[in-house]
Amino acid sequence: MTIRLRLGAVALALCLTGLAAAKTLHRRDETFDWMNLTASTNLTLVPCYGQFECARLTVPLQYSNASAGEAQIAMLVIPAAVPRDDPAYLGPLLFNPGGPGNSGVQYALQEAANFSLVLGRNYDIVGFDPRGVGFTTPPLAFFESPAEALEFFAPYPFSANDSASSLGRIFAQSRILSDLADTRAGAVAESVSTPTVALDMLSIVRAFGREKLSFYGVSYGSLLGATFAAMFPDKIERMALDGIVNAHEWYQGTSYVNASLTDTEAVLDAVYTSCVGAGPSACPIFEASPALVRARVERAIAAAQAAPVPVYNASSGAFAVVDGTLVAHQLFEMLYTPYTSALPFARAVAALETGDGSLMLPGSEAAIVDAYATCAGAGRPFSAGFLDVGAAITCGDSLVAGTRTVDQARAEYERMAVVSGQAAAWYPLSQGICAGWSIRGKDRLNGSFETNTSFPILFISNALDPVLAVTNAHNMSAGFSGSVVLTQNATGHTSQSGFAPCTALALNAYFDNGTLPSPGTVCQSEEQIFSSAES
Ligand SMILES: *[C@@H]1O[C@H](CO)[C@@H](O)[C@H](O)[C@H]1NC(C)=O
Ligand SMILES: *[C@@H]1O[C@H](CO)[C@@H](O)[C@H](O)[C@H]1NC(C)=O
Ligand SMILES: *[C@@H]1O[C@H](CO)[C@@H](O)[C@H](O)[C@H]1NC(C)=O
Ligand SMILES: *[C@@H]1O[C@H](CO)[C@@H](O)[C@H](O)[C@H]1NC(C)=O
Ligand SMILES: *[C@@H]1O[C@H](CO)[C@@H](O)[C@H](O)[C@H]1NC(C)=O
Ligand SMILES: *[C@@H]1O[C@H](CO)[C@@H](O)[C@H](O)[C@H]1NC(C)=O
Ligand SMILES: *[C@@H]1O[C@H](CO)[C@@H](O)[C@H](O)[C@H]1NC(C)=O
Ligand SMILES: *[C@@H]1O[C@H](CO)[C@@H](O)[C@H](O)[C@H]1NC(C)=O
Ligand SMILES: *[C@@H]1O[C@H](CO)[C@@H](O)[C@H](O)[C@H]1NC(C)=O
Ligand SMILES: *[C@@H]1O[C@H](CO)[C@@H](O)[C@H](O)[C@H]1NC(C)=O
Ligand SMILES: *[C@@H]1O[C@H](CO)[C@@H](O)[C@H](O)[C@H]1NC(C)=O
Ligand SMILES: *[C@@H]1O[C@H](CO)[C@@H](O)[C@H](O)[C@H]1NC(C)=O
Repeated sequence: MTIRLRLGAVALALCLTGLAAAKTLHRRDETFDWMNLTASTNLTLVPCYGQFECARLTVPLQYSNASAGEAQIAMLVIPAAVPRDDPAYLGPLLFNPGGPGNSGVQYALQEAANFSLVLGRNYDIVGFDPRGVGFTTPPLAFFESPAEALEFFAPYPFSANDSASSLGRIFAQSRILSDLADTRAGAVAESVSTPTVALDMLSIVRAFGREKLSFYGVSYGSLLGATFAAMFPDKIERMALDGIVNAHEWYQGTSYVNASLTDTEAVLDAVYTSCVGAGPSACPIFEASPALVRARVERAIAAAQAAPVPVYNASSGAFAVVDGTLVAHQLFEMLYTPYTSALPFARAVAALETGDGSLMLPGSEAAIVDAYATCAGAGRPFSAGFLDVGAAITCGDSLVAGTRTVDQARAEYERMAVVSGQAAAWYPLSQGICAGWSIRGKDRLNGSFETNTSFPILFISNALDPVLAVTNAHNMSAGFSGSVVLTQNATGHTSQSGFAPCTALALNAYFDNGTLPSPGTVCQSEEQIFSSAES
């Protein structure tokens, strides 16, 4: 669901294992047996995955109720280049990759080299799995088998307006998901909310023997950072947030209805304009004007809806049906990372026009099927990542989740649809997932998003972000005194979708010596959506 960092998040669907079974994450040839790592209330780091260190930190399951039990936070540390007792050592720098529901352990492992380079070598860079995610325990297991999860999510990707019953079905599904969580993992579902994870971050910092937090949060990670800053404004050492959530609206439960699609159509226009500018040899769906490119894509969606295209691969045995809903979903996903995804999407549309649907598949149904294959037969509890754990996090924070009638939910969808034609694809992954959800996080937000922090926050936003408009960055910056907004003049979700060297240097200086960019700084991305150099 929601505002995840990468479109590959669908593929982050994980098999959750019980404590008895080994959970491992592969990196090249390295695996690490997390459940063989004894959890401790102090920091006990052991070598893992070759050059890294891992720990499981014991914390209260609920900070507001000492008798509710314990949780164990999985964390992976990219060790600082200097010893921890060296004066140049800067302490831990925590990272969250968004979702909600994405694994910080996995992301830190993948991006270790980039992180050290950009964020600084004198920090211990800490990727941790938030509550209910990855190797953090207890798991939030909604489903007893992959088959059960697949049955539940069977029509994925969803649309809010495929048929007269689509929206009502999403509403009903959301209620069932809430009931499943309540009966199968109720106490865990009450313990995955953002304020709980903010309290965990303070626990992690203290386990390192420090009092103040250094943090880099992307997408939903910006909400986690803002939550920490509201709750502990005097405990900020450094905080850079990238791809900004309007935290006021998030906790109200209105962030998706009010502002999330503000710039979505402008992102799509940028893609179509770039196609026209790049020419027919660079853009497979080239037409003489952006409006004609748009019409061509809309024709392909309508044609696939009227006559869905069968895909069957005789050598692998894989099969799937490509309909208009799937194409619309892939279009929406493409908007997250147009510099890398627009060309493959355009190729897939052009192939579809000739009756070949095979290029439309990667990243959607294929990913769910892969996840199924990975989990199948292992008898493991199954989580579909952002589709279920993400719901528990998002909806558990919200004031209004589960309080709407289906008619009110439909009215919210219709308000989103006025803003963007992508609302039908986006509603089921955002606002819709909370429509019938009734569980609330037990640890509540206590603080204000208008406050003085002990060090100014650096807010970063792309000029055009399809799901977190740059206006959110200005809104949040207005509340935190001394904070600065750096705008990266690029298109896509978070600065990472089209990283400019100037943004990397600004991040580096901020974490290295606390230098903030001047207010109004714009970093120009050099990337092209359709590059005429490519064919
Ligand atoms: C678990 O850890 C112990 C000691 O740390 C080690 O001897 C043992 O081989 C490990 N077991 C597995 C399955 O990795
Ligand atoms: C860390 O905690 C464990 C038990 O949780 C204890 O045995 C050990 O002595 C502690 N180590 C330090 C350095 O406090
Ligand atoms: C705290 O947790 C315990 C154990 O789950 C539960 O019995 C108790 O009702 C909880 N207390 C509150 C105030 O929620
Ligand atoms: C990390 O670095 C590699 C190689 O330097 C690059 O290909 C990749 O895109 C970078 N990842 C991000 C998120 O910037
Ligand atoms: C969201 O939009 C609705 C309708 O325009 C408005 O009534 C409401 O106050 C807005 N909520 C927030 C938090 O801005
Ligand atoms: C069909 O499956 C085979 C084997 O998995 C794969 O190599 C090939 O690329 C697939 N063909 C298409 C058109 O996807
Ligand atoms: C939903 O679909 C119907 C039938 O295609 C269409 O008439 C209607 O305008 C759509 N509603 C929205 C809000 O897009
Ligand atoms: C909220 O924070 C204030 C100030 O830090 C504190 O005095 C109060 O006890 C907190 N309330 C709750 C419910 O934690
Ligand atoms: C922030 O600090 C300034 C001056 O130091 C003070 O005037 C202002 O009231 C403070 N704001 C908050 C929200 O505490
Ligand atoms: C920020 O957004 C909230 C929610 O929409 C709104 O109430 C508030 O007035 C905004 N603040 C600023 C400074 O724009
Ligand atoms: C952003 O980049 C575009 C070209 O990609 C350029 O036309 C525009 O002037 C830039 N805007 C700013 C504020 O630098
Ligand atoms: C801060 O660090 C950056 C990058 O390391 C460097 O370019 C800059 O000169 C430093 N500024 C100060 C005031 O030390």
